[in-house]
Amino acid sequence: VTPSAARPIPPAIGSAATTRGALVAELTGLLGGAHHEARFIADEVLGPAGSDASAVSPGSAIVARALARRRRAGEPLQYVFGHWAFRGLDLVVDPRVLIPRPETEQVVEVALAEARLLSGSGSGLRIVDAGTGSGAIALSLATELPGSEVWATDASADALAVAAVNLERVRADHPHVVVELVEGSWLQPLPQEPQGQIELIVSNPPYVSEPEWDELPDEVRAEPRQALVAGVGREGTPGLADVETVLEGSFAWLTRPGCTVVELAPHQAEPAARVARTLGYDAVQVEPDLAGRPRTLVARVESERRG
Ligand SMILES: C[S@@+](CC[C@H](N)C(=O)[O-])C[C@H]1O[C@@H](n2cnc3c(N)ncnc32)[C@H](O)[C@@H]1O
Repeated sequence: VTPSAARPIPPAIGSAATTRGALVAELTGLLGGAHHEARFIADEVLGPAGSDASAVSPGSAIVARALARRRRAGEPLQYVFGHWAFRGLDLVVDPRVLIPRPETEQVVEVALAEARLLSGSGSGLRIVDAGTGSGAIALSLATELPGSEVWATDASADALAVAAVNLERVRADHPHVVVELVEGSWLQPLPQEPQGQIELIVSNPPYVSEPEWDELPDEVRAEPRQALVAGVGREGTPGLADVETVLEGSFAWLTRPGCTVVELAPHQAEPAARVARTLGYDAVQVEPDLAGRPRTLVARVESERRG
């Protein structure tokens, strides 16, 4: 059909060009006053540069409004965007994986310090990330410790599919990273060969108890339950079962000296440290997160004594 030149086509509703400032104000209204989230969405769609007076195309405004509506419906912003920053990496995230948290960036910091204690530069180490999810810990360690060899396990094939996408993306900038993704429970899927040969095991296992999960906001419950919820620990500590399983399983895989680094909830620090000592770790300490709360358990085994 040839459009008639005599009849002008009316603009579609909402398709008029706008400015960045006006768009942010509109998105803030859509989001019930969450101005910082409106700014995040504008930055995501338009790029972070640009003054409030800069022009926004109708197409960009439509995309931004669609993202804001998804957010308003309760989806976490990270899933709405489909990616999120973690220690300088841009990771793909979707409802198959936990959204990587700032606390875990700090856990990686602790793991890097342990790596450097074990081998001056931290390179040449064999490392495991048990329960890798998006691959956040494994990919950070592999890129920040060049020359290391990293295995990343997860019981969820869905999570590993996301980790595989992230590994490919990271390889574009770091072609020499060595990361092996393996499906199965904690350390069980590792090949037998490195048993007793792993210098560093890092994990952010599920540590939310069942009753805590029931109380969590819907937004957090949009994340996979399997990534967050764990059973009761051996002393009756809620949510500590997986932390304990990782600590126990790791013991046989470590070199001497070697180290297991595990994220946990602040109230679990003392019982987890007791369990680690009972399991035979020689030196156990808990490092704080950026808010000063106990967050990262460091459990070391020392060199074998001769004699
Ligand atoms: C708290 S999430 C951490 C994800 C990622 N490491 C991070 O820090 O963002 C826990 C991860 O452990 C995985 N997981 C749960 N049970 C597991 C098991 N028995 N063996 C291996 N991984 C498991 C979940 O699928 C999830 O990806």
